[in-house]
Amino acid sequence: MAPPVESCFVYIQLPGTFEWVPCARLAVQEVGAGAFAGTFVYGKSYLQRHNPVALDEFNLRLTDQPLRFTKLKGIPGALRDASPDSWGRRVIQAKLHRPEADISEMTYLLQGPDDGIGNLRFGLAPTPPGPARPFNRTHQLQALTDAAHRLEEDGRLPQDVLDALDPGTSMGGARPKVSIEDDHKIWLAKLPEERDAHNMQRIEYATLELARAAGLRVCDARLEKVGRAQALLLRRFDREWNPDAKAYARHGMVSALTVLGAEDGYTGRERWSYPLLADELRRWSVKPDDDRKELFRRMVFNAIVTNNDDHPRNHALLRTNGGWRLSPAYDIVPTPVISQEKRDLALTVGKFGRAGSVYNLVSESKTFGLAQEDAVGEIHRIVDAVKNWKPLFAKHGVEQRSIEMLEQAILPTSFFRTAPPDAV
Ligand SMILES: Nc1ncnc2c1ncn2[C@@H]1O[C@H](COP(=O)(O)OP(=O)(O)OP(=O)(O)O)[C@@H](O)[C@H]1O
Ligand SMILES: [Mg+2]
Repeated sequence: MAPPVESCFVYIQLPGTFEWVPCARLAVQEVGAGAFAGTFVYGKSYLQRHNPVALDEFNLRLTDQPLRFTKLKGIPGALRDASPDSWGRRVIQAKLHRPEADISEMTYLLQGPDDGIGNLRFGLAPTPPGPARPFNRTHQLQALTDAAHRLEEDGRLPQDVLDALDPGTSMGGARPKVSIEDDHKIWLAKLPEERDAHNMQRIEYATLELARAAGLRVCDARLEKVGRAQALLLRRFDREWNPDAKAYARHGMVSALTVLGAEDGYTGRERWSYPLLADELRRWSVKPDDDRKELFRRMVFNAIVTNNDDHPRNHALLRTNGGWRLSPAYDIVPTPVISQEKRDLALTVGKFGRAGSVYNLVSESKTFGLAQEDAVGEIHRIVDAVKNWKPLFAKHGVEQRSIEMLEQAILPTSFFRTAPPDAV
């Protein structure tokens, strides 16, 4: 017997509107052990509208023909981006009382609390569902943190906690987090993990402020007290309150994983690359020159603070009214690594692979629209700003012992190498 086909409807909030319309159907079938085929078809009435948009112009172009996908378990990247990752998945497992192995990708897509990135929702009916559940509020952060810790400890949460307080999220990422509403803004709150040896919220906050001081375009952030700890609140750049409509506009958003046509696992990694992403920006972005330079700065900054968790879901494109742009930067956290010889980023940097050193960072500068001397100038400017990191971190309340721990990560000697080690 052929394995069952799971399917859903996809709804979109069209740019410049607050209306939800059905736009497509997705059907996914298991075609072999662990192999899936997805079929995506735009709806006829959607294509006949006066204002349809492609969810992704290059992989999901507007067509009446079915489009087939085998990567990412058959889910097209733009849709997978709106689905939960490890944290959100753990909450869904607790809600459904089912182990991970029993839950399909389609179930995760349908079970998320409608707060996923971008402007898509999913459902089983041809008409869009009613309004999503209201967001949690800042004053509930303590309760949400307590719930997150209980879930971390034993993977379970009582039903009344799940009902009263939805600690779930369709946002990606591994750390406990939840979307909350405050002052007509939606914030992504990253909560403390019980096993954290340092105040990671403060460290991430200070790093984002350091990136801002170094001239990067960074998302707005603030810290909020949760007992003796802090939650890091990141203002969601894919949501914008409209006082006339009394509703949030949702902007389209896709991860660099989708833009690169790459995969999460080891097999899809040959496309995890900053120069390839810069190349993609030439066709995706409405400001390709600005965005390629900004991407270059982010790559340099990640190398200079040893943020080697800079994987393709930690970069995104955002469709504001004028078209696709590189989104503001987020999720930049220094990782202390022992080796001073060589520090690799998650993505290919240049001609010498993933090494986060000057010789490699400048090796493909033209792909980022920069002459070699301009690339060097950008690096000097960023180094100058980062030199000041200790007083800035102290000003933002990062403890001295955390600053000592971060000394290994920020401005590592390996960054300053101007020739590959074997060429010396
Ligand atoms: N300010 C923001 N506005 C909108 N979406 C955001 C924002 N910040 C992060 N996101 C989205 O939420 C996801 C999770 O956030 P983030 O990467 O900070 O979490 P994380 O748990 O630290 O992730 P990781 O697993 O990479 O360590 C991101 O991949 C991105 O899609
Ligand atoms: Mg992340």
